[in-house]
Amino acid sequence: MFEKSTYINRRKKLVDGVANGVILILGNNESPMNYKANTFHFRQDSSFLYFFGLDLPGLAGILDVDSGEQIIFGNDVEIEDIIWMGPQTPLQEKASQVGIHKTIPFSKLEEYIKGVISSGRKIHFLPPYRAENMLLVEKLTGITASQQQHYVSVELIKAIVNIRSIKEPAEIEEIRKACATGYQMHVTAMGMAKPGVWEQEIAGTIEGIAVAGGGMVSFPVILSQNGETLHNHDHSNFLKEGKLMLTDAGAETRLHYASDFTRTTPVGGKFTQKQREIYNIVLAANNKATQLTKPGATYLSVHLAACEVIASGLKDMGLMKGDVKEAVASGAHALFFPHGLGHMMGLDVHDMEDLGQIYVGYDDETRPVDQFGTAYLRLGRKLQPGFVITNEPGIYFIPALIDKWKAENIHTSFINFDKVNEYRGFGGIRLEDDILVTENGSQLIGERVPIDPDEVAAIVSK
Ligand code: GLY
Repeated sequence: MFEKSTYINRRKKLVDGVANGVILILGNNESPMNYKANTFHFRQDSSFLYFFGLDLPGLAGILDVDSGEQIIFGNDVEIEDIIWMGPQTPLQEKASQVGIHKTIPFSKLEEYIKGVISSGRKIHFLPPYRAENMLLVEKLTGITASQQQHYVSVELIKAIVNIRSIKEPAEIEEIRKACATGYQMHVTAMGMAKPGVWEQEIAGTIEGIAVAGGGMVSFPVILSQNGETLHNHDHSNFLKEGKLMLTDAGAETRLHYASDFTRTTPVGGKFTQKQREIYNIVLAANNKATQLTKPGATYLSVHLAACEVIASGLKDMGLMKGDVKEAVASGAHALFFPHGLGHMMGLDVHDMEDLGQIYVGYDDETRPVDQFGTAYLRLGRKLQPGFVITNEPGIYFIPALIDKWKAENIHTSFINFDKVNEYRGFGGIRLEDDILVTENGSQLIGERVPIDPDEVAAIVSK
């Protein structure tokens, strides 16, 4: 964990950001895979980690905004637990490591919360995303799981988003470590991209690098020679010469900070002319986006600029036609780039997504755009120094989408469907970097994963 003062300062900021009442932040519990004692790898809730630092199941944190009292609810282990899990530090001692001096058994949480409610004070809670915590909130507050979304504290959500959006220097160092592991994962995947290799072998090998790096993967590995499927978790194919292998993967550090990179590698080490041309358009969009990423710019404007690079490149190749700005304004580019440019990254790979994208990625000034493609942009608002974000443009040839648009005559004035047909079976290309917004601009975090097409091809051919 970080220094005790880190957690004390974060909680102070949070309490200062909420007018009154009691803040409840639930930790996560063990989650069974196939029977109760055989659990998934434990992952603590990120807001609990951020403010309370303890990476253990079965805890809840309380911050009383009015009295200043801070409590961790949780249980000490029993002798049976010690027999199976070894000696454990008492909860009181763990809590004091993060600056909290009051602990209470978890069974008393219901009585405590009911007491707050009956005294007419507000309980601020976050949107629960795990069924166990939905049931717990129901038990504590009487609000049924299906109604909880209407009662979550927007005041608390906004206060947390304000604090967690700006990464502290120690967090940036953690993200740098996650990026260093991510670098190894991607260079290893590139080196294995040879005809006949099973995608699963590569996916498993790079997942092992993440685990060996001290944490785990920051999300399930996306790796496929059918990269036109945006989040392809099917690793059942054997790589074929001439296909493109898209790898979207990252690591979490021991403290759970994430990295998230995407690279696209020619199987066997040679790009065809068509592949290289499309690759270079995506690379130009990525570079343009990094260049435009700076405080004061909205990420929506950066996204649209990347869309224009893509539309312009595709027009030069004869796949699109007409005025580039008009094509992007109408959403025609989304046939090829049907997702957003990027998202916040931190303790979660999509940082704070559980709190609601509308609060994390947008504000009163920048509202979400309800248009296919740009509607998937998770971050649109004005950038500030300390934001950590991803930059991940792509071009994909998705047969089902091409057929639908052609059949329905969608954007026929901007798309040359006959030419697009020649790219069936192409797959997809996405190139993703992780970026820190600085005082004057932005910088890539860590050493850039090889991205120049010749450099990537050379790694495969080694
Ligand atoms: N890189 C995976 C995602 O952004 O969803």
